[in-house]
Amino acid sequence: MPILTDIAVAAQTPKQHQKAAHLAKELGIPVTEPTTSNHSLLLVVTEERLELRQCGPKAPGPVWVDFTGGKTDYRRRRGGGRKQTLVRAIGVKGKNLPTVLDATAGLGQDSFVLACQGCRVEMMERNPVIAALLEDGLRRAADDPAIGKIVRARMVLSSGDSLTELAKIPANHRPQVVYLDPMFPHRSKSALVKKEMRILRTLVGDDEDSDQLLTVALRVAHKRVVVKRPAYAPPLNGPKPDLAFKSKNNRFDVYLL
Ligand SMILES: C[S@@+](CC[C@H](N)C(=O)[O-])C[C@H]1O[C@@H](n2cnc3c(N)ncnc32)[C@H](O)[C@@H]1O
Repeated sequence: MPILTDIAVAAQTPKQHQKAAHLAKELGIPVTEPTTSNHSLLLVVTEERLELRQCGPKAPGPVWVDFTGGKTDYRRRRGGGRKQTLVRAIGVKGKNLPTVLDATAGLGQDSFVLACQGCRVEMMERNPVIAALLEDGLRRAADDPAIGKIVRARMVLSSGDSLTELAKIPANHRPQVVYLDPMFPHRSKSALVKKEMRILRTLVGDDEDSDQLLTVALRVAHKRVVVKRPAYAPPLNGPKPDLAFKSKNNRFDVYLL
């Protein structure tokens, strides 16, 4: 659930003012100047993209959604394809390419991995600021010569709370797999946590209702529900997982239906 409301939208240059004002209205947050603002977080409209900046002397660099470069691109090209633990947990095998509902989309990284392996992924994100960042990343990626086709054909985003939205899915549109990656409560070694996750946590806090989300997901998925957990964390409260796929830092609990 959102814990921080001290956020505003800013335009990088006067050229982006109109876009920034429109976005601020849509999100119901104020508009400010990037240089004089005293908000903790700024959603900045730049010439190229939308980015989230944490303010203050020790703030990490900005966060934006980039499917086309950096480590996301490296993982797409060299990350192990179908051998990736997430992909195996979802059940991608042979010609089996399940449809996936990523009910906790975040910055869309896991959804992108699955789309690159051929799955159609519907993403749902309840935090409007994160949904706006993801929407912007998808829009830019859709024009990219290397991945545009994948993104346009296989990735769709809805802004909303999966706890209520999943129940509205008609029987003939139920996904084969529901994927959950809720925020896990803080632990002290948080310096190890990536910049993206730290800034996301500032914005959304811990997803304390994830046990309920598992209950809803189990009603909606046709074939399986997959839950990503830190390796040290217990499964969500609910039925015992049928399978667990382990990677170095994470575990994917699988509930077969
Ligand atoms: C750990 S992040 C997910 C990261 C994502 N797997 C990725 O690869 O970028 C968890 C996200 O789930 C979202 N979330 C949690 N519960 C949700 C719900 N009931 N409906 C929609 N989004 C939810 C949070 O707002 C947060 O952005």
